[in-house]
Parts: sequence; structure tokens; C-alpha cells
Amino acid sequence: MRYLSPALNVMTAAARKAGRGLIRDFGEIENLQVSLKGPGDFVSTADKRTENLLLEELSRARPGYSFLTEETGAVDGPDKTHRFIIDPIDGTTNFLHGIPHFAISIALEREGQLVSALTFNPVTDEMYVAEKGQGAYLNEKRLRVAARKKMNESVLGTGIPWQTHGDHPRFLGELAAAMRESAGVRRFGAPTLDLAYVAAGRLDGFWERGLAPWDVAAGVLLVREAGGVVSDLDGGTRALDSGHILAANEPLHPQILKFLKDAGRS
Ligand code: IPD
Ligand code: CA
Ligand code: CA
Repeated sequence: MRYLSPALNVMTAAARKAGRGLIRDFGEIENLQVSLKGPGDFVSTADKRTENLLLEELSRARPGYSFLTEETGAVDGPDKTHRFIIDPIDGTTNFLHGIPHFAISIALEREGQLVSALTFNPVTDEMYVAEKGQGAYLNEKRLRVAARKKMNESVLGTGIPWQTHGDHPRFLGELAAAMRESAGVRRFGAPTLDLAYVAAGRLDGFWERGLAPWDVAAGVLLVREAGGVVSDLDGGTRALDSGHILAANEPLHPQILKFLKDAGRS
């Protein structure tokens, strides 16, 4: 049996408990109250319930830790060296449409460094975990990013801007380049799972602009611990702060970065 740190044990237990509630809510989405946070940006009682349960479980097990969560925002605890970053449901639009592709995602930072991460899809029961220096796993299986080197054989994930979100013309330029260069592009609607899929070698690469820290924090550690490369879309280290992210294996990362940059110039 693979060793889980005490922190990751606490995180997986909280995610499994929250996942059971989420499965119940998913079975009766027609009864959930839904409100609009912004144009085409929905939040439901399931998001809030899941987040509250995670806050409760994690602060009981780790009193004093700070939090950054999607629905509550920043909660500073007396312990500022530890911070949980949480997306209670990534893929809310999928969830509310009855599409079984969404996840709970939790990352733990220590002194500003990502040390533990999980992304859990409760429908497929896929628990992706990573610990700094200890590798990444899907349930019991060690993960390794894809070995593919040829751009024209690789499958890429992305996120598509909608309504007032994001820069539509710039995205269309990047998409045209990805369509020309790759073997296909996917838009699954949950970036935490896209990044987990890169770690698992299912996707060869993933890029998206304008994401929040809770969309990417766990995935950054998962991909790095699976041997992949994560950067912002300038090739720098600010993926988490800027929200612009590219994740891929070592041979493909520079190739994708180049055609995305070239698309921005033309
Ligand atoms: C959103 C979705 C979507 C992505 C957005 C995210 P949410 O997260 O994952 O795929 O394109 O940028 O904000 O609201 O479902 O947690
Ligand atoms: Ca999200
Ligand atoms: Ca969310």
C-alpha cells in the first residue's frame, strides 16, 4: 500500500465524504437551487454545501490553517504558513446539465509551496493524488505523463471562453493553431480533471487562460509529480497567479508553447 502523508489522508477522507453528498445531489439536480454569479457562471446549493463540508472537515483536522476557496474566498487562520486551496465542484456547468464530469479539488501549500494535492471525480471514483517529491497516483496506480513526442499524434485539452469571459478572438487563433498541429482538441469543462488527465497521460497537453488558483493548484503538483512540465503561457513560472496555464510532457511543452505564442502574433 502506498504511503499517504497525514495531511493527504485528511484531505482524501474529506473529499470522499463530500463526494458522497455530491453524488446524492447529482441524482436530483432538478431540486437544487441555482443562482448566477456572473454571465453564464452558475453556483448551486451543491457547490456551497460541498465547500462548507470541506471547510468543516479540514479545519477540524487542521485547526488554524488558512483557506482560499471558490465560494468563500480567502480565510486567514492563525497559521499563515499552511493554506488549503479548494474548488468544491470544478465543472459546475457539467454538473448542472447532468454531465458526469466534475471534480472536487484540494491543494495544500506550505510556506507558499504546493506540497499535497488531490482531484477526485466521485462519479468514476477516480482519486488523483500527489505529494511533493513522492510522485502522483490515480487510486493505487503511479502516474506518468504521456511519452508521445510528435505533435501531430497528440491530443490536447483546452477551455473555451464564453459570453463575456475571456478573449474570444485570441482563443480562436490559438484553437486554429492547435487544430492544425495536433491530432485533436478536447473541451471537457473541468480544468482540474484536464490537468489530472495530463498527469495520467490521457491528454498530451492542456492550456487555458483566465483560470483561478483553485482551478489549477492541485493539477500543477499532479502534472509535475507525474514528470510533466507546467508553465504560464509566456513559458514562465506564474501559472498559479496569472491563471494562464500550459501543461504537457517535456518534449511537447516547448512545441505547444511556440504555436500558441505564434498564434498570438499573427
Ligand atoms: C470553471 C470550469 C470551466 C472553465 C472555467 C472555470 P467551475 O470552473 O471548470 O471549464 O473554463 O474557467 O472557472 O466554475 O466549474 O468551478
Ligand atoms: Ca473551477
Ligand atoms: Ca467551482
